[in-house]
Amino acid sequence: MPFQLTDEQLLTRDAVRQFAEAEIAPIAAEIDRDHRPPLESIPKLAELGLLGLVIPEEYGGTGADSVSFAIAIEELSRVCGTHGVLVEAHSSLCTWPIVHHGNAEQKQKYLPALASGEAIGAFGLTEPGAGSDAAHTATTAQRDGDDFVLNGQKIFITNGGFAKTFVVIARSLLDVPGVKGLSAFIVERDTPGFQVLEPERKMGIRGSSTTPLAFSDCRVPAANLLGREGEGFKIAMQTLDGGRTGIAAQAVGIAQGAFEAACAYAKERVQFGQPIAALQAIQWMIADMAVDLEAGRALVYQAADLESRQEPHSQASAMAKLFCGEMATRVTGKAIQIHGGVGYTEAYPVERMYRDAKITEIYEGTSEIQRLVIARQYLR
Ligand code: CAA
Repeated sequence: MPFQLTDEQLLTRDAVRQFAEAEIAPIAAEIDRDHRPPLESIPKLAELGLLGLVIPEEYGGTGADSVSFAIAIEELSRVCGTHGVLVEAHSSLCTWPIVHHGNAEQKQKYLPALASGEAIGAFGLTEPGAGSDAAHTATTAQRDGDDFVLNGQKIFITNGGFAKTFVVIARSLLDVPGVKGLSAFIVERDTPGFQVLEPERKMGIRGSSTTPLAFSDCRVPAANLLGREGEGFKIAMQTLDGGRTGIAAQAVGIAQGAFEAACAYAKERVQFGQPIAALQAIQWMIADMAVDLEAGRALVYQAADLESRQEPHSQASAMAKLFCGEMATRVTGKAIQIHGGVGYTEAYPVERMYRDAKITEIYEGTSEIQRLVIARQYLR
């Protein structure tokens, strides 16, 4: 039976779609071309409540359920993958762990600013030597009086260029090897010894700011320890359990945008004396794309619904991310194929969508890592 959206979820979809088409679609190509973070969108996203979706109302958020969150990410990504990941990383990777692992003071201090857009969030896990193998995190956080002193480097940090609040995973129990020595910290951008380095120039989601971070004797108050010492890996994995559903939703949105563009083009492009939509070769591609999209969206809703009901969702989110990432690459590729030569040019949005789609197979855990997470559940 298809997943039934509630009236509230349908309203969210309509409101975000309308906003995305009016405010984001007009700048999507330009921010991609110029590798420009869309900072002007932040107050608008905040005004619609999109920066506080995972934040309870008492801290200024909207306290949306996870399906509504996924719908919002899908709708933003349908017109612009950059905006989708800006909100996704801010919400799933930075805000969520503070909501779920922060103490009362930390929530009071950080969440209202994250909900209002005064602060954008980012998440620092990946390092040059710890990508898929996150347990090998080498950044250290040595206790010194009332502080932890951070040293090390992070890479590929989404929103890095403009985020004010970072959740950072570092090794604080230096004599405890492996994942049990890792802890999570809230680090403010202006902390001395914390430096955000030059953004990467990427194949896709080019408006998204992806930067390295450097910590050099960076003193973070012990009050900013998130959860307990030694819980950092668990916090990171739980964070990614939700984040992966968000990226799957981003992938569905990008694919949906490309699918709609391909349908429209197929109806207007005339060859052999008729719109190419009349050709069976095109119809088969459209049919396969539609099935792919429906299957992916169902996996996203299923994973998000489990999360909303606070049921285990590691496997469901890994399945959604795996399928939707690969699906988005397939669907956007077919969208280019249907456009033919013009689809390979910047004149049409599908080439941007194809480039944007590829990252959904990589960040927040590659497809190979999702397969590992899924298989482990059956084989342990
Ligand atoms: N929830 C809670 N705990 C979890 C968990 C989860 N989902 N997954 C693992 N754990 C716990 C395990 O139970 C285990 O604890 P115990 O020893 O107490 O049982 C501990 O964590 C270690 O687990 P594993 O043995 O499974 O650890 P591992 O070293 O084999 O690694 C992995 C597991 C799945 C490969 C993990 O390292 C992983 O997910 N890697 C990919 C990292 C990733 O996704 N990076 C993306 C970074 S974010 C990003 O992309 C940037 C951005 O801004 C968009």
